[in-house]
Amino acid sequence: MKISLIINGQLRFVEVEPGEYLLDTLRKINILSVRRGCDNTSCGVCTVLIEGKPVPSCSYLSVRADGKSVTTVEGISDEAEKISAYFGDEGAEQCGFCNPSLALTVYALKKELIHPTDEQVDQYLVSNLCRCTGYISQKKAIKNYLGDQS
Ligand code: FES
Ligand code: FES
Repeated sequence: MKISLIINGQLRFVEVEPGEYLLDTLRKINILSVRRGCDNTSCGVCTVLIEGKPVPSCSYLSVRADGKSVTTVEGISDEAEKISAYFGDEGAEQCGFCNPSLALTVYALKKELIHPTDEQVDQYLVSNLCRCTGYISQKKAIKNYLGDQS
């Protein structure tokens, strides 16, 4: 069956199987910034924004996304660069596998919550696992980014 997706602002028509997940659909059309980790909704590296909200694409049926806006890190490239610079300043960039999904989640967090508490930030990021950093430098970078009003 054919579905329509508005990927990073661009309308695309894609052929999908009824039980296909969005992660597979996006990678099939060469959007490879969307990564595969656990494949069972535990690690968050497959996160994309659907209608602006972070969603693990490994467990989101492609047919559910029909007609919706899907944002990958390419769709927020300026903001992702800014987030990445904050991570670099805190030495929070290591292998980079989690970076696209984390950038999308942090971007969505900034849009959704005004002056979030540390607990709210932790809660928002709870499904984004990073196997490298230990989170302390990441959290400092995120706090600095959230405090940036530019
Ligand atoms: S690959 Fe989707 S949550 Fe891990
Ligand atoms: S920096 Fe390696 S998984 Fe996060």
